Amino acid sequence: MKNIAIMASGAGTNALNLIEAAKAFKNVRIACLVVDTASSPLPEIVRRKYPMLPVHRILPMGGLKGNDRKNEHETRVLEALRNHEVDFIFLAGYMRIIGSVLLNSYENKILNIHPSFLPSYPGIDSYRRAFEDRVSESGVSIHFVDKGVDTGPVILQEKFPRLEGDTLSDFIQRGKNLEWKLYPKILEKINDSATLLPGA
Ligand code: GRF
Repeated sequence: MKNIAIMASGAGTNALNLIEAAKAFKNVRIACLVVDTASSPLPEIVRRKYPMLPVHRILPMGGLKGNDRKNEHETRVLEALRNHEVDFIFLAGYMRIIGSVLLNSYENKILNIHPSFLPSYPGIDSYRRAFEDRVSESGVSIHFVDKGVDTGPVILQEKFPRLEGDTLSDFIQRGKNLEWKLYPKILEKINDSATLLPGA
């Protein structure tokens, strides 16, 4: 059995979708959810809908700055993950750059879903930036997390078109639909092969 932790900061539609999708697989389970913001509605939704799923809301501490702040926060996240014997971390709209504490403990075990066809449009606001550039297509990528911002090896990616007359919200919706389809495929890969390696 492989234990997956999901980390999220915002609305959490990917997190909820993964929790639901994982029910179909025998060899993977969502072991816990970590949320790093006070504003995300996700902990309440998950506690109500999935009362057996451990949820940790772990906020960065005030007072510290820069790397000290990141290290202290990630150390508390790591403690929570260790209690659940986590094998893989799925970032699902987690808005912090992952630092050395988590990267060293989970080398090639942290995955992210990014709303563009990488290496195009790394960073924030990718759907909007692509839309404003009037691209004819964009995409969704799932990749391993490394030290950079959206630079790790891609595991799976797919394109979607921008259609005539699309508003930004139509365009984003088409992208999100693809996100919800693609991220569970990684659960399936781990379920079937018990592993996931860069370049495999
Ligand atoms: C998604 O667009 C994902 O690709 C990006 O952050 C967004 C999170 O959305 N990394 P949600 O919170 O899962 O709805």
